Amino acid sequence: MRVLTIIPTYNELESLPITLGRLRAAVPESDVLVVDDNSPDGTGSLADSIAAEDAQVHVLHRQGKAGLGAAYIAGFRWGLDAGYDVLVEMDADGSHQPEQLPSLLEAIDNGADLAMGSRWVPGGKVVNWPLYRQAISRVGSTYARLMLGLRIKDVTGGYRAFRRGTLEQLNLDQVESVGYGFQVDLAWRVAKLGLTIVERPITFVERELGASKMSGNIVVEAMVNVTRWGLAARWKKLTGKS
Ligand code: GDD
Ligand code: MN
Repeated sequence: MRVLTIIPTYNELESLPITLGRLRAAVPESDVLVVDDNSPDGTGSLADSIAAEDAQVHVLHRQGKAGLGAAYIAGFRWGLDAGYDVLVEMDADGSHQPEQLPSLLEAIDNGADLAMGSRWVPGGKVVNWPLYRQAISRVGSTYARLMLGLRIKDVTGGYRAFRRGTLEQLNLDQVESVGYGFQVDLAWRVAKLGLTIVERPITFVERELGASKMSGNIVVEAMVNVTRWGLAARWKKLTGKS
């Protein structure tokens, strides 16, 4: 299995080298693609200098901040073109512990089409995450579960491993979510295809360095989209029309 771990970055100068070091030590067989949106703090150049020393680290430079979803889609395309079998999503800030990646890869090995790191299944934990963020995540996950009929507990989680064939079946061109709603969007698309989604408990550790890019707009985008998708699915069921 050829594994590519994709790490989107926007101003992660302090965190990125630590996360990369941990990832290369914990799962040396995984190649890495850093997708940097021209971070003003120079994260992109730092990534280039790490890549110059390590043939398994690659960097995709984008012109400017265009959101987490757009960065991942560009990363997935790069990885699919390069022939990887498994594509992993991981935050740069240390919240997704590289040492827990083997658990996701094992789930894929056992047949999962999508393996998701989950904070909200037994054994899952959050460390140092402010209560308001926990509340947004739990309420958001519950709302998405009810609205979309998903069985996943941590719908917005961003620590995931996709089997190549899963991404190939998704219509990546049609994914329009830019913020963290992107995570819900992809989970929903995978669930609609009837593919196997497995949640594995993770310990999500809030970043110690740098700042979150979470914003009110990101939450609103996700809520509006989940509501739209949920209503459209109900309408389709009722009328048989799309
Ligand atoms: N290239 C790029 N472009 N990277 C971005 C952008 C962007 O516009 N926005 C965020 N990132 C990167 C960050 O640099 C970081 O590596 C990762 O995406 C996650 O961003 P954070 O800002 O640290 O997210 P968070 O900790 O607030 O949110 C976490 O929880 C959300 C809710 O569960 C993440 O795990 C999200 O993926 C998750 O949806
Ligand atoms: Mn974070």
